[in-house]
Amino acid sequence: MDTSSDDENEMQPEYSGPILYYSEAVIDHFMNPRNVGELPENETDGYGLVGDPSCGDQMKLWISVRSGHIDKIAFKSFGCPGAIATSSMLTDLAKGKSIDEARRITDDEVVEALGGIPERKKHCSLLGVMALQAAIRDWESRQSEDKEK
Ligand code: FES
Repeated sequence: MDTSSDDENEMQPEYSGPILYYSEAVIDHFMNPRNVGELPENETDGYGLVGDPSCGDQMKLWISVRSGHIDKIAFKSFGCPGAIATSSMLTDLAKGKSIDEARRITDDEVVEALGGIPERKKHCSLLGVMALQAAIRDWESRQSEDKEK
């Protein structure tokens, strides 16, 4: 039985503190993650593997680079919903960007694009960004190896 009156409901203050729940965008990217999977060896120009020792989650990310731009990107996350959603959004943000632009994507930009993420889950957004940076470093080292040949 609802014992609250209409007056009481109207008096509920609007919550303005830190986000304590997943936004619709986070739930969407978790339920329907973009760019999931891995690129085949012959399409992989860079690969990154990172983990978060604090929670044991792991992230693998592949990139294919054409004319200095990220042509294809794929990831596999062995992590929580926050890690999956932020990695999915990260791949959406990075796809089509130049290597320099992709390198500058921050975890804050990923979180902002998702409309926020609970404070205690913010570290999850670092996994994707770190994996992308590792994949870019791998691409760079493959480039210099090719030049030395
Ligand atoms: S709790 Fe570890 S990445 Fe989300």
